Amino acid sequence: MKLTIIGTGYVGLVTGACFAEVGHSVICVDNDLKKVELLRGGGIPIYEPGLEDLVKRNVASGSLSFTGSTAEGVEKSDVVFIAVPTPPQPDGSVDLSYIERVARDIAGAMTSYKIVVDKSTVPVKTGEKVAETIKRYCKAKVDFDVVSNPEFLREGFAVEDLMKPDRIVVGVGSQRPAAAMRELYAPFNAPIIVTDINSAELIKHAANSFLALKISYINAISIICEASGANVEEVANGMGMDARIGRRFLNAGLGFGGSCFPKDLSAFIKIADTLGYDFQLLKEVQHINADQMERFVKKLTDTLWVLKDKKIGVLGLAFKQNTDDVRMSPAIDLCQRLLKEGAAIRVFDPQAMTKAKGVLPPGPTTTYVAEMNEVATGCDALVVATEWPEFKLLDLDRARHAMTHPILFDGRNLFDPAEMEKRGWVYKSVGR
Ligand code: UGA
Repeated sequence: MKLTIIGTGYVGLVTGACFAEVGHSVICVDNDLKKVELLRGGGIPIYEPGLEDLVKRNVASGSLSFTGSTAEGVEKSDVVFIAVPTPPQPDGSVDLSYIERVARDIAGAMTSYKIVVDKSTVPVKTGEKVAETIKRYCKAKVDFDVVSNPEFLREGFAVEDLMKPDRIVVGVGSQRPAAAMRELYAPFNAPIIVTDINSAELIKHAANSFLALKISYINAISIICEASGANVEEVANGMGMDARIGRRFLNAGLGFGGSCFPKDLSAFIKIADTLGYDFQLLKEVQHINADQMERFVKKLTDTLWVLKDKKIGVLGLAFKQNTDDVRMSPAIDLCQRLLKEGAAIRVFDPQAMTKAKGVLPPGPTTTYVAEMNEVATGCDALVVATEWPEFKLLDLDRARHAMTHPILFDGRNLFDPAEMEKRGWVYKSVGR
């Protein structure tokens, strides 16, 4: 099938590349012409495992191309995806102006029947607004259908999640676009759930909020574990083996961050409020998440007493493993708190150093260290802030000897407490 994807951020670019990979002909549109040039030349603006190969291969075969022109994309395709940002506003609601702009652009370029698919995460009832907008701005008076097709890909695993999805959700207003969407997704061999548009939009916010709730739940349990001498990992394992609960997203730690969960929670609370429901449960999820960072910082001050003029090594800057994304990263939040207290930090991340330089304050108190095993040099304490699996390979003996005193605060529970103690470390993790 012939597709156009408008917006080449995480979602748009990965979706476009995966659709091309399974045999569709894909045009990716972006209004950032520098990005279009970069992509045409084989460059990738984000770090995402597997993406570069996928893009290069499909550009070379001619099934994936890039343009700055929405009109060109709309004209040459049967299905047009909207994958533009939906950033948060100060009051927690979502800025839908990019979606509205693109809906108008699509409407202006339509000369034949199109299926317009919203892939961006949007509040329930946005599909209705998109349809109204297209109707209003389409001069050609041609038929169209609006579809909601939320994405569930995780950064760092985006290609894998897209190629092997658990399910595909398609929200439609009539049967006509449903058949095309089934054909489009047939190569992925995944269950396809067809709903009305409002339900599909709600599925996305409900799913992300539930995952965030799961994380806050286990973080709350971690507090009880610390107070009672239990081990949160064992509790999570025991709970997770119940198939009704599941082990995933039950890792206690510094809490969730990133460009999705914090934003989607706020948006969902706001939408619920607009619809007349005070979603207190989700407000508590936010509260627990914020509190988790406070508790972790308190662990540092309880042990180190004064942070001013202490040197602290921080492993991890990205909001999670396998990505260079530092948006709403708990690791960055932690660094900022340490700096504010007057500590000097030595930081390392396998991918996110460049992006971190753009958000951490410049100055001599932050040292970017090129090699993981060099971070500990001269430090009063080490902190693990991101769950990169390679941090488990840290040369603990070398680090121990390079520090003034071997203290490790593990915000992601990567190491084994008994083993760390045996190796001479003062080791503090979360809920264990
Ligand atoms: C999330 C969802 O998992 C995707 O399904 C969804 O498509 C995406 O948002 C989106 O809306 O675009 P993502 O934000 O990329 O994906 O990352 P996650 O893997 O969900 O992790 C989010 C945060 O939760 C990270 O900071 C991570 O460290 C934290 N986390 C995750 C925990 O603290 N504990 C866990 O057990 C799992």
